[in-house]
Amino acid sequence: MNKVTVIGSINLDTNLRVKQMPRPGETIHATDHYSAAGGKGANQAVAAARAGSEVSFIGGVGADAPGKEMLNLLKSENIDTSGIITATKESTGQAFITVDDSGQNSITIYAGANYAFGANEVLQNQSLIKNADFVIAQFETQLAATIKGFEIAHEAGVRTILNPAPGMAQIPAELLKLTDIITPNETEAETITGVKVTDEKAAQKAAAKLHEQGVGTVIITIGDKGAFYSYQSKNELIPAFKVKAVDTTAAGDTFIGAMASVLHPDLSNLKEAILFANKASSLTVQKYGAQPSIPYRKDIK
Ligand code: RIB
Ligand code: NA
Repeated sequence: MNKVTVIGSINLDTNLRVKQMPRPGETIHATDHYSAAGGKGANQAVAAARAGSEVSFIGGVGADAPGKEMLNLLKSENIDTSGIITATKESTGQAFITVDDSGQNSITIYAGANYAFGANEVLQNQSLIKNADFVIAQFETQLAATIKGFEIAHEAGVRTILNPAPGMAQIPAELLKLTDIITPNETEAETITGVKVTDEKAAQKAAAKLHEQGVGTVIITIGDKGAFYSYQSKNELIPAFKVKAVDTTAAGDTFIGAMASVLHPDLSNLKEAILFANKASSLTVQKYGAQPSIPYRKDIK
């Protein structure tokens, strides 16, 4: 099983269930509310750990109750938290998530302590990166921290996975050059490439644009349609499993963490790893909350 290091975000999620998303200017009643551990980085780390990987985390929490709780939860997953700083001036990151009856979500995040670590903190924890098989990052933390982490990984021959979420239109060229695998969903793929990903052909077009910028492997997750990959002139849409989604929060994160934990570093089993990741995320969408919904290896198998 791979060793995985995540440079990423840690959030306390506040979830609201609604029948339909509120429109601008509208006030609506929620039918339920609950809080859960989240953050794209932490979710991906937990997904990799539950899939059986040895996981390390580089990130930041605040010196507050949610920070302590999030840290303890990561430790309880056997995740190495030595690379997580406790910021004194910023609160722990927060996410406000609204989930409607179709299982779709809309998320507003407050970064807080997720922005309190930068390139220096990553440099101080470089051994966690050099000892890994895969390093994963997202866009809920400082770009400079991610670029530094990917530089260290690249020099050490460690594979890098960039989850470009939340979407960003102008990803720095230097970061894309250091990225081995990029994993946008369909909306993020559109934000990055300008190509509306409606079907397999469009996904191929979006992937080609990312290859042009130096990314060897492109994986576009297309909701309940599945995951499209493009790698070394091979490309294919691997269909998702048909399940009833109640909350898609952390589905993409589960996909990435699970995939990173079983993918051979030479990418020779990419298709099998995507199939495994599809299975994992099909379990996540059937449960509420981010980390509470992430499956264990035995459940995926
Ligand atoms: O991808 C889902 C995650 O996005 C949530 O857990 C929330 O914290 C936001 O970071
Ligand atoms: Na979920």
